[in-house]
Amino acid sequence: MRKTWLIWILIGLFAIFVAGIALAEKKEEKTEAAKETKAVEKAEAPGYMYMGAVKCKPCHNLPKTGKQFDKWSEGPHAGAYATLANEKSQEIAKKMKIKDPQKAGECLICHITGYGVPDSLKSEKLTLEEGINCEACHGAGEKYWPMKIMKNKKLAMENGLIEPTEELCVSCHNEKSPTFIGFKYDEFVKKIDHSYPEEKSE
Ligand code: HEC
Ligand code: HEC
Ligand code: HEC
Ligand code: HEC
Repeated sequence: MRKTWLIWILIGLFAIFVAGIALAEKKEEKTEAAKETKAVEKAEAPGYMYMGAVKCKPCHNLPKTGKQFDKWSEGPHAGAYATLANEKSQEIAKKMKIKDPQKAGECLICHITGYGVPDSLKSEKLTLEEGINCEACHGAGEKYWPMKIMKNKKLAMENGLIEPTEELCVSCHNEKSPTFIGFKYDEFVKKIDHSYPEEKSE
């Protein structure tokens, strides 16, 4: 009689122990996920409003300073949202059980400007159709676009202008991309070159 009681108590204690481990593991998973989301939010929400590429165009599409707007329009990033409607995207979406890639966070996070940023920080001029615009790499333009600030690089940087780095590129160019082709900064930056013409730079 005594022996069976003892066995039952031991089984009970063991069950509580196992449940405790499972619970602790779950909690840890949750905090890790929360940390990750926080980090993403931080990187994408500088607190300035995204103005849309049309804001940059009047000053950055002049032939003598390098026509940045046209070069960007013809480059890969401007079409990033449109890509999500093409056949290849449909195929990827089907495999991932996603209905419409142009509406799915799993795709938009790397294919549009300012994903996850509140609407209050998006000008009406910022469209989905412009894909990854200037501000996705140079920072939200609300405060730095006026001429008297833009002319002064230090002042512009104090007002949200960002110098794009490799770290920024690989926030999208990484293995989380379903089509990842690898990333080499020097090579890739040349492919999107929109620098000032030679005679302009000192
Ligand atoms: C009112 C005109 C004007 C507008 C609008 C404007 N810029 Fe500029 N921007 C300038 C001028 C002027 C410079 C300095 C060029 C120079 O040094 O010769 C400049 C410089 C820059 C630079 C180079 C900074 C460096 O490294 O020296 C970047 C990047 C830039 N602008 C991005 C943008 C983006 C993105 C937008 C739109 C959100 C924008 N600009 C809107 C006039 C403008
Ligand atoms: C916000 C996400 C994001 C950032 C930041 C970003 N890219 Fe991209 N990039 C993309 C997406 C999405 C595509 C594919 C666009 C398409 O094909 O529709 C792409 C395509 C490209 C391509 C064309 C690749 C090919 O197919 O040959 C080059 C080159 C490139 N990016 C360079 C860069 C460089 C250099 C940086 C950093 C200065 C950068 N990108 C930053 C998302 C990003
Ligand atoms: C982590 C960022 C990221 C995510 C998430 C992402 N993409 Fe992309 N996408 C990229 C980058 C960067 C490229 C450029 C090529 C590469 O993958 O290296 C690209 C390119 C593409 C291309 C063009 C490939 C080609 O060769 O023509 C398609 C199509 C595409 N993505 C569809 C999708 C779909 C659909 C989703 C959602 C299921 C998605 N992407 C999610 C970053 C991303
Ligand atoms: C995918 C990221 C990306 C996008 C999108 C992008 N740029 Fe840039 N931009 C860069 C990088 C990287 C450099 C620096 C290149 C280098 O180091 O030579 C740069 C340099 C510049 C410069 C300075 C040129 C020089 O010679 O110093 C200007 C001005 C500029 N960008 C304006 C724009 C404008 C305007 C748009 C949109 C119409 C735009 N950029 C879109 C990444 C981007």
